[in-house]
Amino acid sequence: MTRAISLHDVSKVYTKGTRVVDRLSLDIAPGEFLVLLGPSGCGKSTVLRMIAGLEDITDGTLLLDGERSNDLPPSGRDMAMVFQSFALYPSMTSGDNIGFPLRIENPGGDPRPRVDATARMLGIEDLLDRYPAQLSGGERQRVAMGRAIARHPSAFLMDEPLSNLDAKLRNHLRAEISKLTRELGATTVYVTHDQSEAMSLGDRVAVMRSGVLQQVGTPREVYALPRNVFVAAFVGTPRINLLRGLVRAPLDGAMTISLGKQFLRLPEPLSLDHQLLRVQQGREVIVGLRSEAVRIAKHASARPGEVPLTGLVEYVEFQGHEALVHFNTGSRPAVVPDLENPRPASRPARRRRRDGSVLDRLRERAEALRAGSVAVLDRPADAAPGPEPAHLPGDLVVRTTPDIDLRHGMQVPLLVDLAHLFVFDQHGERICPAPARLPDLAE
Ligand SMILES: Nc1ncnc2c1ncn2[C@@H]1O[C@H](COP(=O)(O)OP(=O)(O)OP(=O)(O)O)[C@@H](O)[C@H]1O
Ligand SMILES: [Mg+2]
Repeated sequence: MTRAISLHDVSKVYTKGTRVVDRLSLDIAPGEFLVLLGPSGCGKSTVLRMIAGLEDITDGTLLLDGERSNDLPPSGRDMAMVFQSFALYPSMTSGDNIGFPLRIENPGGDPRPRVDATARMLGIEDLLDRYPAQLSGGERQRVAMGRAIARHPSAFLMDEPLSNLDAKLRNHLRAEISKLTRELGATTVYVTHDQSEAMSLGDRVAVMRSGVLQQVGTPREVYALPRNVFVAAFVGTPRINLLRGLVRAPLDGAMTISLGKQFLRLPEPLSLDHQLLRVQQGREVIVGLRSEAVRIAKHASARPGEVPLTGLVEYVEFQGHEALVHFNTGSRPAVVPDLENPRPASRPARRRRRDGSVLDRLRERAEALRAGSVAVLDRPADAAPGPEPAHLPGDLVVRTTPDIDLRHGMQVPLLVDLAHLFVFDQHGERICPAPARLPDLAE
């Protein structure tokens, strides 16, 4: 059995009056694997707990298979929940832990056949006689999963079930969870703040921010057509490059988006998406370039739809199978408030500037952050000095092959593929590709 879960305008207000979930509507189909994704504190667990019946719904309606179920007790919902901290009974063996819900459900029955079948599914047949203290973290989590599965519930609610495990085990169990839930055909709602986990597991991903649903769609849709700048920046690694731009659409010349000292010239005839940008003439926008939208190549080798840009190498981050080159293009990165998915903290030490003390640099940076803008450290050689008060190295990250020989300070030709250009308005809503564009991702 599997089940449809619908939330209609569901809100949660705790006693102090903060609305931690705000009019959330979501229809989860029977057998679907839906991932709730968002930064810490955005309300993911609260949504899951409301579905489970562990938390009251302040406003709105929860429908289970089309029936209003706001007041149904948790035991009547036929759902199994798996938490981050796998609470097993320490005085019971793994087998007894897995069989426990079966014994509660059917006190006279023999849980063993179901326990054995579940253990086989999870590959933990050898662990059934061990106590939790004699198991590793990953093994314990599998037993906890077994306890949730054994009953064959109609839905699984999983709250960051893998976040206590190391990366290798996490990947392994991720694949197992995906396989198991599909085999069982149970509807699954899976909470995580890890976008790569969300993208690899979900049939659809629902992105939340501050209690508000931002977008729900397949992983491809949220990646390729993010509704706003928050979703664009939360989904995908390395993080999308977000630059402040200004649209210039003269009546008698080519339309451009200026990025500080350089500009992107939109090729003519303008595509439909680019024509729609005309109304932004003279306005500040946010330009989004994922790393695959930019490549390092001579300007003369531009393919149709590619336009030139020049970058000054700040540093190169080797990742083994690829390298991420951090360029300075003389543009200003756009700041997305409360975005909790910053670029990796493991940046290499920055090159010392020859002028100014460490304190001066910190002061400059603080000023820039206060002003809501972050400018660049070294300008391209042909760029005139501008009024920006502060400095952070690199405004554009480009992915490339690891064998590339680039060093700090080199000036490098770049090509931007305008087919991959995102433009967001000042409120962060996507305006290019046009919001009305259907998610036809075949092209
Ligand atoms: N019992 C409570 N009383 C008041 N506020 C609460 C309560 N439980 C949670 N909150 C608040 O509700 C908000 C959402 O919490 P929730 O646990 O749903 O976030 P989350 O997205 O699961 O975060 P995380 O990724 O850190 O687990 C948070 O700001 C939290 O402080
Ligand atoms: Mg949580």
